[in-house]
Amino acid sequence: MLPQEAIRAKRDGQELPPDAIRELVSGIADGRLADAQLGALAMAITLQGMSDAETVAFTEATRDSGEVLDWRGLDLPGPVLDKHSTGGVGDLVSLVLGPWIAACGGHVPMISGRGLGHTGGTLDKLEAIPGYSVTPDTATFRRLVKDVGVAIIGQTGSLAPADKRLYAVRDVTATVESLPLIVASILGKKLACGLDALVMDVKVGGGAFMPTPEASRQLAETIADVASRAGTPTTALLTDMSQPLAPCAGNAVEVREALAVLTGERKGGRLLEATRGLAAEMLLAGGLASDRAAALATLDERLASGAAAERFARMVAGLGGPSDLLENSGRHLPTAAVMREVHAPRAGHLNAIDTRALGMAVVELGGGRRAPDDIIDPAVGLSDIAALGEAVSHGQPLARIHAASAADAEHAERHLLAALSLEDTPRPAPSLIQDTIRREVP
Ligand code: URA
Repeated sequence: MLPQEAIRAKRDGQELPPDAIRELVSGIADGRLADAQLGALAMAITLQGMSDAETVAFTEATRDSGEVLDWRGLDLPGPVLDKHSTGGVGDLVSLVLGPWIAACGGHVPMISGRGLGHTGGTLDKLEAIPGYSVTPDTATFRRLVKDVGVAIIGQTGSLAPADKRLYAVRDVTATVESLPLIVASILGKKLACGLDALVMDVKVGGGAFMPTPEASRQLAETIADVASRAGTPTTALLTDMSQPLAPCAGNAVEVREALAVLTGERKGGRLLEATRGLAAEMLLAGGLASDRAAALATLDERLASGAAAERFARMVAGLGGPSDLLENSGRHLPTAAVMREVHAPRAGHLNAIDTRALGMAVVELGGGRRAPDDIIDPAVGLSDIAALGEAVSHGQPLARIHAASAADAEHAERHLLAALSLEDTPRPAPSLIQDTIRREVP
């Protein structure tokens, strides 16, 4: 089918056959489709939607538009597993989860992204570690996935090239919001990593990528359905993002938090609960545990024994970071010039947090990008952020600002005070893991 005929059919609400979709996506990847056609196609899909079968075909074609990683030649003793998150604030799950799964026998080739809007990016966090390279050569990547069990690196140009081109066009044609395009974009990249199973963390609440809880649920269900129909068993968790996941946000501050969790210095908390929940699903999906209780028991043992921390240390050293990060993090991780506590202007219950505003405060401090080429400051951010539902007294610290200057800290303080709502009557915080959607390959 000619591209213009396929675009016309979609525009008029018809269902496209799989071979027409494959043809379109390969034309996106190799440049046969002009930008104008890409824009028109994206708009037709945004307005008319896609059936499940079309979304599966679009996802598979996106996955197959470039290299699909193949781990079979390495004779890995365990399954190849990964997790993807729709992104949040204080969401450093990947830093803890990747090494933790490796310590339980999984292999995690995690291709991560950079901060986007108010959300932080795993690569930006890891680059706060001096020397850590997110662009190793393929041999190093494969060796680490085999020997250490985990490597967290950046997107390579060869994975899902159709998505790279389509995403750039969607960004400027008001077509980012289309559910089938989001699903094909996320899964096209993830499924190109040659996974045996995938776990998705779909955020719900004020700091989430999707605008409403219903939209988050629909995304979670569609991702689990489409990925499993495309051959990768997938579990999606709906998790709360109405407050930062960890009590901190920023790059070096989040690496410090990851180390605290991995070494057992930070026990409990929402970050650990979410990571443990996601990790248990990964062990189950990968056949590394017979049931949830067994998965949790293995996870708890591998964290307490220091095995997960040891995998993190080996990954960091293997990718060019210091070999003594665990022992001497204070020597290696950058600290901000100015620290400032934000104090509660009155007594009350912390009933609402504008999570998006906290994320943007980190961007404004220099911890994220306003323009794609901005250089970020790894040292800045927020820590010791009070939790939703907490009862605070007048003058009690609500958060600590890590800033490059006193002026930046003052600016951030104003934003923080506006983002944290204190009220007289307590309100319960939403539960962290709100649902689990498991899908087998049909
Ligand atoms: N993340 C992606 O990778 N693609 C989308 O379309 C949306 C979020």
